[in-house]
Order: sequence, then C-alpha cells, then structure tokens
Amino acid sequence: MTTRVIKNIRELTTNDPSLGVGVTGRLHDAALVLDDERVLWVGPNAAAPAADQMIDAQDSAVIPGFVDSHTHLVFAGERCEEFEARMNGTPYHGGGISSTVAATRAASSDELRGATEKRLGELRAGGVTTVEIKSGYALTLDGESRLLDLANEFSDEVTFLGAHVVPPEYLNDREAYVDLVRGPMLDVCAPKSKWADVFCDRGAFDVDESRAILSAAKSAGLQLRVHGNQLGATGGVALAVELDAASVDHCTYLSDDDIERLCASKTVATLLPGADFSIRAHYSSARRLRDRGAVVALATDCNPGTSYVTSMGFVLAIAVRDMRMDFDDALWSATRGGAAALRRDDVGHLGIGARADVVILDAPRAAHLAYRPGASIVRRVIGAA
Ligand code: NIG
Ligand code: FE
Repeated sequence: MTTRVIKNIRELTTNDPSLGVGVTGRLHDAALVLDDERVLWVGPNAAAPAADQMIDAQDSAVIPGFVDSHTHLVFAGERCEEFEARMNGTPYHGGGISSTVAATRAASSDELRGATEKRLGELRAGGVTTVEIKSGYALTLDGESRLLDLANEFSDEVTFLGAHVVPPEYLNDREAYVDLVRGPMLDVCAPKSKWADVFCDRGAFDVDESRAILSAAKSAGLQLRVHGNQLGATGGVALAVELDAASVDHCTYLSDDDIERLCASKTVATLLPGADFSIRAHYSSARRLRDRGAVVALATDCNPGTSYVTSMGFVLAIAVRDMRMDFDDALWSATRGGAAALRRDDVGHLGIGARADVVILDAPRAAHLAYRPGASIVRRVIGAA
C-alpha cells in the first residue's frame, strides 16, 4: 500500500468538526496523509509525517470529493428543443420523459455505456467521487434490468426507478403498470439495486401508488428514496418520512408541516438547483430548511429533461446565489449532506479512516467554486467515481 502526503494546503475542508473549525472542520496551512483507500492523518503542514509520495497542493484549497446522491446518468438522446421551448414559456411536465424512454429503449448497451461513461467523466472532472445512478428510462422489465446492469458497472449506489412515469403503452391501464413495477419488475430488479425510488408528483405517480411501490420495494430489502414535491405540494415529503426514506429529492414546494416532518425524521432533504434552474421553477427553500435544522443535501440530478448538469460547482453557485445558502453550508450539503442522503459515513468528509476521496482546487479558497461559476478550478481529483 502506497502512502501519499498532500502538503501546502492553504485551506482544508475536512467536514469533521473534531479536526478543525466549525461544521466544515476547517484548517489552514494543513497537510493530509492518505493510503490507497483511507485518510490516515490530518494536521498542520509543519507537522506532516513523511510518506512514500508527496503531492504539492501549491497553497490551494482542498475539499472532500463531492457526493452526487441523485443522477439519472444512463440514458440516450437529448432534449435541447424542450429546454428551448421552456425558456420561451412552455411549462415542464413529465411528458418529455417518454421521448428519452424511446431513445433509451432503441440504444444499444454499448451506446448507453459510452454515454454514461462520458457524463461520469464530466462529473468526476468537476470533483465528484461518489455518484448515485438511477434507472427509469426503459420502463419495461427487461429494459429496466438492462439499465441497472449498466449502472452497476459504474457505481455501488444504484437505484431502481421503474416508477418514473407510466409508459405510453400503459396509459390506459396505469394500475397494471403499478402492479408490474411492484411485482415481476421488482423481483428482477431488486437484486441489482441498493435503492428504490418513485417519482411521486403531478403527471407521474400519486401518493397511494407510490406507497404501494415503495412498500413492496422495502419488503424486497431495498432502501428508499423519493422524488417528491418538485411540481407541486403533492405529498411526496410526507410519504418519504412515513416510510423512513433516506432522502426526499427536489422539495421545491414545501409547507411548514413538511419542514417539521423532515426535522423530526432521519430523511434528508435533497435539493436539486440545476432542475429548478432548468425548468425555471422557484428555488427550493434551502434557508427555511436550514434555519429549522433539517439536513440538506445538494446534487446534480443529471438527466436530459430537467437538469442536464454535470458540474457540482454550478450547483454550488446556484445554491449560494439563488437559494441563499451560506457557502460552507452548501459545500457541506454537496459532500457530507450527499453522504447522509445515501446513509454513508465513509465519504463526504476527510476524517481519519474516511475514504481517500480528495479534490485539490486551483484556488485559494473553496468558495471560489461559487464565486467563479463556469471556471474549471478543479486541479486534481483523487479517489473513486
Ligand atoms: O429528477 N422529476 C423526475 N425525473 C427527473 C426528470 C426526468 C426527465 O424529465 O427526463 C428529475 O427532474
Ligand atoms: Fe431526478
């Protein structure tokens, strides 16, 4: 096992309050020692122990790798025309999903693999070291199974989203589709998945349908996550809390009761600023959530319809400017918050024993990620993804 010391770190975010100042566990003039898998030592630069290799951070900021806890990376085609129409006033509704479903069904596995790899490369270049990947653009038993096989080639955090929308061929019998998802499709897909998710919203699945699918998935041993309250106050947050989902994602429409529910639960509120941006929704109430003490994660939601975003820096910039999150809070949410949304304790921070997933920036402070939107300030990414 090779050890590496990263020296000359001007600003180190550990997200471990026992190692530094505040919730980000911030240190200045620091060093970090890693082996191939784990963080071994964190402390002042002057006291750094020797290691097999030395990496010079050149007086720049270092952060834990981003944990992108919500993506739909496996798809074919694109929907730029839909985006342009939206920018000219056509509202978003889940109907566009069927055009990606058609393209994805028609694509070969090699095409899908290549497209996924490319998007994952973009995420990684922006500092993502842990990524969750959903199925949901095939909506047939064999098709969802194929997407999950592909997702498993890239990540351990794989989510079965057979309940993305009701596919065109079932529009006259949605009950039959719900029965397929919670029955035979789940039987095939559960062994390939860690998580199950449902799009519980207008134009997708109502609360009762979502509860039936998620309960079946839970009985099959999957952990739960929910797309909720993106297009309206549709009950997804309450359902996610009721079923102890790890996360409810979007949360664009939140009542005070929803926030109370989240605060009294272990369910993380995952905000997806790229989706609010790209469908020109109002932004989720990050401040209301944080002021009341809810745990918030930030993720890209990379998908061809609502958020063709592969930059966590862009997500941070919107969270800070438009959702009015404090930068350090946003950075925590995109790292340790994402880990909480995946119920992981080994990523999203650089405490001793954490996974050696480290991002060296080309900037003196991590806040440059929001301050310089669009600039490529990730100099080096160490670790998985
Ligand atoms: O997370 N909201 C549901 N699913 C995706 C969008 C899917 C699509 O429009 O292709 C989302 O926003
Ligand atoms: Fe999504």
